[in-house]
Amino acid sequence: MAVLRGSVELVLPICERPASKSTTLAKLLRWRSQSRHKASSISTALSELDGGPDSSELLTELEWLLDDAVESCVIHRPEKRKIQGWRHLKSALELEECGRGDRDDLDQERNDTLAGHGEIFLRASLEELEQGWKERIDRRRPFQYVTGSSHWRDLVLGVQEGVLIPRPETEQLIDLAAAAMDGNSELARGVWVDLGTGSGAIAIGMARLLDGRGSVIAVDASEVAIAVAEANARRYKLQDAVTLVKGSWLTPLRDEAGKLSGIVSNPPYIPSRNLGRLQAEVGKHEPMCALDGGDDGIDHLAEICQGACWALKSGGFLALETDGGEQAQTVAKILSDKPFEDIKVVKDFAEMSRFVTAFHT
Ligand SMILES: C[S@@+](CC[C@H](N)C(=O)[O-])C[C@H]1O[C@@H](n2cnc3c(N)ncnc32)[C@H](O)[C@@H]1O
Repeated sequence: MAVLRGSVELVLPICERPASKSTTLAKLLRWRSQSRHKASSISTALSELDGGPDSSELLTELEWLLDDAVESCVIHRPEKRKIQGWRHLKSALELEECGRGDRDDLDQERNDTLAGHGEIFLRASLEELEQGWKERIDRRRPFQYVTGSSHWRDLVLGVQEGVLIPRPETEQLIDLAAAAMDGNSELARGVWVDLGTGSGAIAIGMARLLDGRGSVIAVDASEVAIAVAEANARRYKLQDAVTLVKGSWLTPLRDEAGKLSGIVSNPPYIPSRNLGRLQAEVGKHEPMCALDGGDDGIDHLAEICQGACWALKSGGFLALETDGGEQAQTVAKILSDKPFEDIKVVKDFAEMSRFVTAFHT
C-alpha cells in the first residue's frame, strides 16, 4: 500500500493500514506454524555468518509482524465473540510464547475447534505476510522494511527502502541535546538543525523536546529521505515545527550563518573498506549514501565540523554520532583545532565512545 509524494512512493506501515483483508483463523495458524518452522531452521547460521538474527530473534519478529497485521478475530462458534488484536487472540488460544519449546499450541483439539470457526481481519493479506516473511529470511530484508515501521524512543516511524532504519544508540543524541539545554534555556528557543535526517527520527525527537519553544530544520541529500521524514513529521503533527530541506549538509543554510542554536547529526561514518563486511540486512538493503563515510569514515563528519564553525551562533551546541572508539577521538581532535570549547567524547549505553559534543565559542 503506497501513496505518491512527489516522485517518491511512500509505503504505509502495516500497523496503520485499514483491516481490509480477511482469512480464516485456521489458515493464519497454519501459516504461523510454517513460519515458526522456517525461523527455527535458521538456528545460529546467520549470526555465525555475519552477525545476523538467530532463531529466537526471528521468532520474536514473527510475533511482532502478527501484532501489526492482526486487527481482530471473530469466532462464530460455540458462541459469537470478537477478540481484538493478536496478543489477546494468542492468549485466548493459549498459544505457546515464541521461542519456548517446539510445540505450537497447548490444546490442539480445542484450538482446532476454534480455528475452524474463526475469521481473522488483517491489515495485510496473508499472501503479503507470506511474501514478507520469505523476504525476511531468504533475502535478509530488514524486519522494519517488511513492516514499514521502526520503533525509536517513544515514536513509531514509517521507514522503507532508501531510508536508514534509525538505530537505538542514536536515541541518546536527543538526551545530549536535552542536557545542553538544561544548562542554557536560551538554546531551546532557537533554531536546531538535524543534518542527514533520514526517517526524520532526530528532527522529530528534537521538535518534541523543544515543545514549541524553538524550531527544527531537517536536511538530507536524498529525496526519499525528505519524503519519508516529512510524512513522519506529519504523523506526529509536527509539520509546522520541522522544516525539510533537500541539500548537502549545511550548504542550503547559508542564510542561517551564525544564527543556529544547535546542530545534531548522525552522518554516514563507516569507512568505505568496511562496507563489504556488513551484516546482509544492512549491506544489501540499507542505502549506501547513509553508510559510506569515505576512506576513514570521517569525510562527512569533518565537513559538518567545518560548516558548524560558521553556522552556529556563539554558545551554540554541536552533537555528532560517530563509528565509535578512535573515530570519536579524531572528531574531538578536529574540533579542538576550531572555535569550540567544552569538547566531550560521550559513551553510548554499550560503553563505546560514540558521541562528540561541543559548544561554539
Ligand atoms: C546514517 S544516516 C542517518 C539517518 C537518521 N538521521 C538516523 O539517525 O536514523 C545518514 C543520512 O545522511 C544523508 N546524507 C548522506 N550524504 C548527505 C549529504 N551530503 N548531505 C545531506 N545528507 C546526506 C543520508 O541520505 C542519510 O539519510
